[in-house]
Amino acid sequence: MTVATEQHQDNPLTEGLGIARTPESCALVIFGASGDLTQKKLFPALYSLAFRHLLPRNFAVLGVARSEGTDEEFRERMKAAVQEYGRDPFRDDIWDTLCEGMHYLDMDFGDDASWTKVTRALSDVDKNIGTGGNRVYYFAVPPSAISTLVEEIGKRRSKEGWNRLVIEKPFGYDLASAQELNALLSKEFDESEVFRIDHYLGKETVQNMLALRFANGIFEPVWNRQFIDHVQITVAESIGIENRAGYYEAAGVIRDVFQNHLLQLVALTAMEPPSDFSAESVRNEKVKVLRSLHTPGPKHVVRGQYGRGWIEGEEVVGYREEEGVAPGSITDTFIAAKLYIDNWRWADTPFYVRAGKRLARRETTIAIQFQRAPHPPFEAIAGEGLRPNVLVVHVQPDEGVSLSIGAKVPGAGMTIRPVHMDFLYGGTFRQGIPEAYERLILDVMLGDATLFTRADEVTEEWSLVDAIVGFWRRDKPVFPNYEAGTWGPHASDEMLHRDGRSWRRH
Ligand code: BG6
Repeated sequence: MTVATEQHQDNPLTEGLGIARTPESCALVIFGASGDLTQKKLFPALYSLAFRHLLPRNFAVLGVARSEGTDEEFRERMKAAVQEYGRDPFRDDIWDTLCEGMHYLDMDFGDDASWTKVTRALSDVDKNIGTGGNRVYYFAVPPSAISTLVEEIGKRRSKEGWNRLVIEKPFGYDLASAQELNALLSKEFDESEVFRIDHYLGKETVQNMLALRFANGIFEPVWNRQFIDHVQITVAESIGIENRAGYYEAAGVIRDVFQNHLLQLVALTAMEPPSDFSAESVRNEKVKVLRSLHTPGPKHVVRGQYGRGWIEGEEVVGYREEEGVAPGSITDTFIAAKLYIDNWRWADTPFYVRAGKRLARRETTIAIQFQRAPHPPFEAIAGEGLRPNVLVVHVQPDEGVSLSIGAKVPGAGMTIRPVHMDFLYGGTFRQGIPEAYERLILDVMLGDATLFTRADEVTEEWSLVDAIVGFWRRDKPVFPNYEAGTWGPHASDEMLHRDGRSWRRH
């Protein structure tokens, strides 16, 4: 990971993304340039990087997609996207600089003549803009297109500079397909050239889990089974599937969020301290956690699918009524699981995790619940107020960290009430929180893979998912089993109640 320079720390615009070195000149080729991701995430992120002068001096973007179009049309569409989805004020001068190196090419990924066009366009930008033969190839395409792209780019890799591939999720559909893709990648590219995106790792608050644990002396000594009763990780969304039925029907929440974002949060929470913050050290520790995850039995996994309900005062349809969803679909939109990590630090400490669509509200949190105080001397008189301490990392929204402690209510007697010590990003740092994609695009250009998933991590993640999907196949769920706008099926609450615990609610 990179280190903030003093100069950047003084500047509120670059404080969060401060870098000790700027990326080398390069060309970014985006396959899938007419898709949603490019408009909603990639270009707004590129603009924000340009706004902070964090892009390389000589930089070009080549948008590639199947549909016909001109440079001018592409620039106009991306400009509108930046204006709609960007987080920074739109400035013509910044946009014009970005536009100078922006081109569009329509192509058929399987066609040789199209590839000749791409190669020619790239040597032109090398010549005219000085991108030095360095290439970032960004795959914002459906999984079916990935293998063709890997093979074709492999044949045409730049000899003058470096080549890096950025691969969006889903990375495969199951263990076998992920392994196949990994094998194909390793035939054509070195692992250091492959950047598998899990955008959760680009979130500030997710990285703050590492800072919290390893930049402070007070947490690590109690970060284990002796002091922690259990951990709860929630990735809740109030949105539904938003016109993505084609993708979601085959994925479900287990492949969409559990396999990647959720398991990465587990790994960061549970990992051992790495010896340094290099990509290899951090990922070595994460993969050990993923490898130690005990496969949960059917009783320890709850799946759900939303029916009709109300979200923020509006009535919403059930999953099966969403456009493009089969009326009898048994795709999961909710999962809750009780996971165990089989190692010395965590043996017998449950990690309760859940993720879902159309839940009561958007919330991603990691809550560490500590053991109760062993012998509070005032139990008899303090009553209800004696609660275990909980440290909550608020990944989003209301980004921050809070610690609940028991405090004495002023007055005679000894009444105890839980209170919160809060750190809020908004109130502490002057600049807004960068979008995950800003950080991730910058890291690819810098060649820093710390926040990307390595081949072995993906394999471990899929092994767990395959095991769960394996027993799901054996029975037919009765869906829908939760109302939109609630916290999921009752079975999810019951799973914790059986252990004498319950999900956190605010
Ligand atoms: C994506 C999933 O990876 O993450 C989406 O495909 C989900 O279904 C999204 O909505 C959530 O990301 P964020 O950053 O909004 O929490």
